[in-house]
Amino acid sequence: MLEARTAVKSLHAYRPPLAGRQGLRLDFNESTIGCSPRVLARLRSLDAEVLARYPEREPMERHAADFLGLNAAQVLLTNGVDEAIHLLCSTYLEPGDEAIIVVPTFALYAIFAQAEGARVIEVLSDENFAFPLEGLLSRISQRTRLIAVANPNNPTGAAVAGEMLLRVARAAPQAAVLVDEAYVEFHGETILDSGGLPANLFVARTFSKAYGLAGLRIGIFAGDAGQMAMVRRVASPYNVNAVALAALPEALRDQEYVEHYVAEVRRGREMLERELSRLGLHYWPSRANFVLVRIGAAHAEFVQALRTRGILVRDRSSDRSSDERCEGCVRLTVGSEEHTRTLIGALRDVVERLRERREVRA
Ligand SMILES: Cc1ncc(COP(=O)(O)O)c(C=O)c1O
Repeated sequence: MLEARTAVKSLHAYRPPLAGRQGLRLDFNESTIGCSPRVLARLRSLDAEVLARYPEREPMERHAADFLGLNAAQVLLTNGVDEAIHLLCSTYLEPGDEAIIVVPTFALYAIFAQAEGARVIEVLSDENFAFPLEGLLSRISQRTRLIAVANPNNPTGAAVAGEMLLRVARAAPQAAVLVDEAYVEFHGETILDSGGLPANLFVARTFSKAYGLAGLRIGIFAGDAGQMAMVRRVASPYNVNAVALAALPEALRDQEYVEHYVAEVRRGREMLERELSRLGLHYWPSRANFVLVRIGAAHAEFVQALRTRGILVRDRSSDRSSDERCEGCVRLTVGSEEHTRTLIGALRDVVERLRERREVRA
């Protein structure tokens, strides 16, 4: 019988819903209004020739590098941040190596690290999901070869100061340190502004969130030129498709569109957080386009009640976190103002009904 590798057989399956997401989708932190009309116009102008040819990534890498103020050799375009994580694990992890993550966090760091046979070390975030700098530093060893941090973090929305990430990178020169900036636009601060980044530090960006292009699967992966040359060795030369590459320059050019959406999300985030306070629900202030809120024992019912009203949100109760800190928690994506108002209206109604039945904590 054909057997998968032991490391693969012992993986926990990560199963986000891949079908049936009809309604107002506030469950995956996507944009609720989609991409810039200029990007759409570019996509509509594509002809058969673009699709007939293998995609040419390099010219677009120069665009992406210019945008970030880097050299092309420091940048690799990827099939979303997901692929960047995968490539980083393939490039640096040997079986038995250690990969450190701060939990709760994005599921794919642990999955891709374990698939390489690495041992994942989970460092619990501090109270209120603050970055556990000392805890993390104390777990670094000679076997540490990867440290992955989402900034801001998913699902908590907590951000960490660039200075702390630099301390981590300097404390573990033998490890690849990934700073996943999937939500950077909503936060407004990037490690790239720190200047003189250590050679073991990598930054991943995506077009899936603020740019409204999750379906295209494109991201920017940046790091030291010498290290990126190694990462490039394990990447397919055609990892990013021609349609995504064609959209990239227009997406980067129309910053006004992105800024407008980001401003809406920030206003919506405040509005939602105010409403959660008013409803007496505990939430964690967020720097991203989502808010994590504690619903309590009725979390599944809460998610279902919103679904009945046409709104999808994400139950985070099952998040891998040794002390079950996400127990009873639900993550709500913040979209356009109109969509956030719709969410707030439904929230009031659902919370009131559950309270009548004493199922949601005050
Ligand atoms: C922290 C984080 N990184 C990466 C991703 C995935 O990004 P992409 O769509 O670019 O693969 C997500 C998506 O939810 C995320 O939350």
